[in-house]
Amino acid sequence: MSHVPPTDLEARIRCKPLRDRIATPEEAAALIKDGMTIGMSGFTKAGDAKAVPLAMAERAAREKFRITLMTGASLGHDIDKTLTEAGVLARRLPFQSDPVLRAAINRGEVMFIDQHLSETVEQLRSGQISPIDYAVVEAVAITDDGGIVPSTSVGNSASFAILAKKVIVELNLSHSPELEGLHDIFIPAKRPSRTPIPVVACDSRAGSPYIPVDPEKIVAIVVTEKEDSAARISPPDAETTAIAGHLIGFLEEEVRKGRLDMTLNPLQAGIGVIANSVLSGLVDSPFHDLRMYSEVLQDSTFELFEAGKLSFASASSMTLSSAWADRVFRNIGAYKDKLVLRPQEVSNHPEIIRRLGVIGINTALEFDIYGNVNSTHVGGTDMMNGIGGSGDFARNAFLSIFVAKSVAKGGAISSVVPMVSHVDHTEHDVDILVTEHGLADLRGLAPRERAPVIIENCCHPAYRALLSDYFGRAVSTRGGQTPHILEESFDWHVRRLKTGSMMPVA
Ligand code: COA
Repeated sequence: MSHVPPTDLEARIRCKPLRDRIATPEEAAALIKDGMTIGMSGFTKAGDAKAVPLAMAERAAREKFRITLMTGASLGHDIDKTLTEAGVLARRLPFQSDPVLRAAINRGEVMFIDQHLSETVEQLRSGQISPIDYAVVEAVAITDDGGIVPSTSVGNSASFAILAKKVIVELNLSHSPELEGLHDIFIPAKRPSRTPIPVVACDSRAGSPYIPVDPEKIVAIVVTEKEDSAARISPPDAETTAIAGHLIGFLEEEVRKGRLDMTLNPLQAGIGVIANSVLSGLVDSPFHDLRMYSEVLQDSTFELFEAGKLSFASASSMTLSSAWADRVFRNIGAYKDKLVLRPQEVSNHPEIIRRLGVIGINTALEFDIYGNVNSTHVGGTDMMNGIGGSGDFARNAFLSIFVAKSVAKGGAISSVVPMVSHVDHTEHDVDILVTEHGLADLRGLAPRERAPVIIENCCHPAYRALLSDYFGRAVSTRGGQTPHILEESFDWHVRRLKTGSMMPVA
């Protein structure tokens, strides 16, 4: 880092005694020993520690060691891939989205704890999971008294740093120092004597703009200049545009019925292509002065800001494509009164989500004729990414909405099935289901009433008669509150395993 002017570093490391703790990534990585539990920053590719984990992987080529790795959510820069290939990961939580790590998880080589994103640090704080040896946290600055100013995500970094025995800071000079002031670090107290979290609106600020830590715990500062990995966001297609259209029509109807006004309730949108497209669809909607109480802000958030539709967004991370990252981060100062980044236990806090009346929009892999949703497991066995924050929001939302394309893999897989092969969100947590074919409003409906509505509105026409036939025979031969023919419920999944398609061979 010899080319970095010393005055820049002084402005970024304002706590003088810490200036002596600058270390190389290799020196910092050498502190991490076999069997340790490491809490690293990073949430959906934003604000991840970048240099130390990659140096850990290099070290593992010479010296075998395995760790438990906790993060906020998924990481960029192929960090999960590289650590998996280096054999460093014994245990990983609470979320990932990397194909190489996913394969290792599904081979049983890495133990993956798929967890509600609001829960990890609650369990850490109360000693229910193993304590953190080192927190490795990306920062844009360190304050006079050693406070860590996070970068493009807060995720679990604050509690990791507070609860860890020792802290390594990755000071990333590629991030604008203007990010300082965007964060609101409020740490809930221990239970059962916790008082309510004073977040009463999307724009509430309840904590400090930095993570308060004892500077003595900061044992190394690694200076980096690596930018966040860009999000890969595909543009809306015919299906996602149709899904957005159905959802907007539904929300307009809710306004007409007096259940919402034209500013709607705070919005949450999950990760992925579909949720991002749905939110983009609001650019051309009649709604205005929208607010978000979400966990990830994708490109669509900034499209809504630029269209003058959004007045405030609260989240735990900002994950943008390179085009939007350029635009937003060059001008981040202008967003200071429009954005706040919080710890994920606050952005995803069930009590706040319930109290603010959040409209939660998340993506399903598949759902069944009664409204149970599978977001995580392909064929009931193989992990895709994890539940992420979808459960934090779905159970507690004012409106719990799940979107999906009606078929996957060119029509070989129906996303609407007789019985889901794995349940992440039970029928009790799901209000609205949407595919490109239409929207099923499940509110106030018993299971026997839900099935025809889901089949008629959401199922792909190619699978509709098959599903209706299953439901009709389940009702007439078995009955019950939730009719099923158990020996047939998984036939579609079994057929896909055997033939590659859920469609019966003619
Ligand atoms: N069975 C098997 N595969 C399926 C499937 C099904 N029923 N439905 C979709 N898929 C596959 C797609 O074919 C695609 O595969 P590919 O990557 O090989 O092309 C992949 O799943 C992703 O689907 P896509 O349609 O591109 O949607 P997405 O990018 O929006 O991702 C989820 C969808 C469900 C995987 C993603 O939203 C997720 O991980 N959700 C759980 C976590 C969550 O909801 N978090 C919210 C708060 S962060």
